[in-house]
Amino acid sequence: MSTTFQLDTATSRAHPTPAPMKRLTIPAIRARKDDGVTTEPIVMLTAYTARQAQLLDAHCDLLLVGDSLGQVIYGLSSSVPVTLEMMINHGAAVVRGSYHAAVVVDMPFGTYEQSPEQAFANAARLLKETGCAAVKLEGGEAMAETVAFLTQRGIPVMGHVGLTPQAVNVLGGYNARGRSDAEAQKIVDDAKALDAAGAFAVVIEGVVEPIAIAATKAIACPTIGIGGSAQCDGQVLVTEDMCGLFERVPRFVKRYANLAEEIETAAATYASEVRARSFPGPEQTYQPRKG
Ligand code: KIV
Repeated sequence: MSTTFQLDTATSRAHPTPAPMKRLTIPAIRARKDDGVTTEPIVMLTAYTARQAQLLDAHCDLLLVGDSLGQVIYGLSSSVPVTLEMMINHGAAVVRGSYHAAVVVDMPFGTYEQSPEQAFANAARLLKETGCAAVKLEGGEAMAETVAFLTQRGIPVMGHVGLTPQAVNVLGGYNARGRSDAEAQKIVDDAKALDAAGAFAVVIEGVVEPIAIAATKAIACPTIGIGGSAQCDGQVLVTEDMCGLFERVPRFVKRYANLAEEIETAAATYASEVRARSFPGPEQTYQPRKG
């Protein structure tokens, strides 16, 4: 399968890597699913900082600057209070720290639901002020008109259905969705509506597996699963969850590292060396020149 890259002017000065400044395009990601078949699954991880982006970039097709940064970075209790300014600052950092993956930035709660015009004005700010390639927004049929409005005006959109965390106050929690037949059908219909409206991909979060499979079969654009199914066209995880920075994670998260333990061990060792006056040691101390 051939991969299409585009010249990335946004990072050409800032990025320290000597690799060519080329980046995956949104049409190339969309084209991964052809006639219902995705031979190369799409790899997406969240990133919120430039350094994190540098470490993840080569391994990912998409970097998502998720509004989960509200909880992960800012210690908020949900993503509801996240602002456009937070997304712009972190989005720009992730674009600066990457050169290969396409960067998608979440539209935070309250910045797109009111009207397609409101969504366009705020999505345009995200594209102009971060250099990202696309935006993501939550909601299905109710957001289809907005998705069409944005995509027809030059803003690629990733949809997000199933468990939509910005709607926590309506849903009453973060439990898996689609347990009743009616709700299951609604989630598949939501994915179809976004696909028909021109979304280039749809995140399917926290649903019972048959729904993720049904939606993946029902729509032409790729599905990106998170707590969905391995049959989705791609997968996404919150990087801090998969790296083991939090004790409490959803059941669908697989830990690939235990960074919390490593950081705590490093901090404890440093603290004991400082208290014993053995840091800095001879290797970290500048000595006067001889002679
Ligand atoms: O905000 C986020 O990180 C997300 C992913 C979990 C899909 O929306």
